Amino acid sequence: MLTLNEVNTYHGHLHVLHDITFTVEPGEIFAIVGANGAGKSTLLGTIAGLYVPRRGVITFQGRSLPYGRAERIVRLGLSLVPERRQIFDDLSVRDNLFLGAYHRMRRRDPSVMDDFRQVLRLFPRLESMLDRPGGLLSGGEQQMLAIGRGLMARPKLIMLDEPSLGLAPLIVQEIFRSLVEMREAYGLTVLLVEQNVRAALSIADRAIVLERGRVALAGNARALLEDESVRRTYLGVKGDDVHRRRA
Ligand SMILES: Nc1ncnc2c1ncn2[C@@H]1O[C@H](COP(=O)(O)OP(=O)(O)OP(=O)(O)O)[C@@H](O)[C@H]1O
Ligand SMILES: [Mg+2]
Repeated sequence: MLTLNEVNTYHGHLHVLHDITFTVEPGEIFAIVGANGAGKSTLLGTIAGLYVPRRGVITFQGRSLPYGRAERIVRLGLSLVPERRQIFDDLSVRDNLFLGAYHRMRRRDPSVMDDFRQVLRLFPRLESMLDRPGGLLSGGEQQMLAIGRGLMARPKLIMLDEPSLGLAPLIVQEIFRSLVEMREAYGLTVLLVEQNVRAALSIADRAIVLERGRVALAGNARALLEDESVRRTYLGVKGDDVHRRRA
């Protein structure tokens, strides 16, 4: 569905992404994990059209993406839920949600109301807060709102940049459960960027590990969760513990 082939992205002179190659299949939850500064957000931003790759090819449903054209990329069915959520604090929860569908609102598309109801089914907590300014929601509620807004664009593929950031474990669980539910309800493909490696690999089908802008490991998410170097580097499991667990 989405293929990257030897994609290289720079921030000015800084070469951030080095020959990134992977394919995301339809209906898959695909995780991208890695430490701070590994290039995860740059990678999502490159796909979403916020940054233009200097070399390489990105195709979506068999067609080359219009690099750097964020608006057109949304219309093709790729929606990015950015890091730190970027809710409009002064707008109501309702208006924040409808903003996600603004290109269809202009055409008075009746499906917008269906999508609105569907988002409230997925995140029932939001229903009682529709008139509240987005800025007054808790961190977890804001994350649900940001995902809901992403869904209002009717994406085929939704990209989430660290949805667990700053949230308590129970809320992270709730949000991750809703990602799985969302995939079923919408037939969506999910590209999930996370520093919470354990949580991400637990719900993903496949994953890559990014290290300093390169794909260091790739494979089945369950297998990566058991991988010794992943456990040591990202899950805080010491070498000894790994051996003891294996024994
Ligand atoms: N807009 C920008 N301009 C210049 N440099 C940038 C920009 N965005 C990111 N960088 C640099 O690119 C590198 C990768 O950053 P990026 O934000 O993609 O990492 P990340 O994996 O998302 O990190 P984190 O987990 O902290 O969000 C870092 O060295 C960062 O300082
Ligand atoms: Mg980031």
